Amino acid sequence: MTYLRLSITDRCNFRCTYCSPASWGGKKDLLSPAEFARIVSVFASMGIQRVRLTGGEPLIRPDILEIAQRISTTPGVQRVAITTNASHLERLAAPLREAGVSQLNMSLDTLSEETFRRISKQGDFAATLRGIDAAARAGYDSLKLNVVVMRGVNDSEAPALVRYAHERGITPRFIELMPFGQGTPVPSAELVEQIQAAGVPLATEPEDTLSAAASITSGPARYWRSPTGRVGFISPLTQNFCGGCNRVRVASNGDLRSCLGGRAQAPLHQLIRGGASDAELALAVRRALGEKPDGHRFTEAGSASTLLPMMGIGG
Ligand code: GTP
Ligand code: 5AD
Ligand code: SF4
Repeated sequence: MTYLRLSITDRCNFRCTYCSPASWGGKKDLLSPAEFARIVSVFASMGIQRVRLTGGEPLIRPDILEIAQRISTTPGVQRVAITTNASHLERLAAPLREAGVSQLNMSLDTLSEETFRRISKQGDFAATLRGIDAAARAGYDSLKLNVVVMRGVNDSEAPALVRYAHERGITPRFIELMPFGQGTPVPSAELVEQIQAAGVPLATEPEDTLSAAASITSGPARYWRSPTGRVGFISPLTQNFCGGCNRVRVASNGDLRSCLGGRAQAPLHQLIRGGASDAELALAVRRALGEKPDGHRFTEAGSASTLLPMMGIGG
């Protein structure tokens, strides 16, 4: 395992239908920057090289720059990335880059303000678009645009979103909806056809390039090439990628989960507050990873509850 996803808050300024229960209140007792730094240093001593900060919305934490700075300077950590709804990036894109963050994945599901409001409930469309533009100017090594596709909501916008992203040097990625909230998923193959039918030719990466890329990131996305840039698809329902998984997660309540669709396995926050040593933390992590499930069980019809909403696990 080389990639740690750290959910630093379960709060968000949006309420996307696929992620957050309407009644979600959020937890008050979140980890401090020093506690995150401690957890990351234990994971780094065990081989973790990349850290992704997620949420809820990570950028609503007032101490986000301190968290990013402490993690990016932890020995062994080679890359720090953030997944964000982009609404605070107009102010934070440049300072985060300076704090050592090199990659941003930004969510944008639609180019229609009305659809944006329907999906995000209380999201700020204009601030999100300004945030994405600010990120495009801030010198990041990698920028991606995450689009969760829902039947009858935003399932005809793929070609326009590809154009929007590529015009800004950003890689768009279309995600099959996982069963954490409302909505009906759309198979990635349908979107590949839709994009091609709109006049954007897509070519698969050569098999060897794909597997080489996969072995570096072992990410869930599979990328196609177009004349204007890459286009990614994340297809947990129609093209399972669990076999190559290199990820481990710490949810916003401090619980370690070795699979997005699995149960909580080790209460790292409680262990830290109870005075556990680094060796004891490492042992708890090792035990949990030894019990990593062989994959999620999401289907188009749903899945067993994971007890926390997406908002608390961070994707
Ligand atoms: P990269 O490192 O840039 O490839 O990031 P990523 O795609 O792993 O992270 P991001 O936070 O942008 O997540 C994009 C989508 O992939 C979200 O819908 C996540 O829930 C989903 N995702 C990320 N990792 C996993 C995983 O291990 N399993 C499943 N099923 N989905 C995942
Ligand atoms: N299915 C797929 N992706 C989701 N995300 C949030 N909820 C879901 C879901 N139910 C995505 C967000 C964000 C990332 C953290 O996870 O769009 O890009
Ligand atoms: Fe907030 Fe992201 Fe969840 Fe939307 S998907 S509610 S922006 S955490």
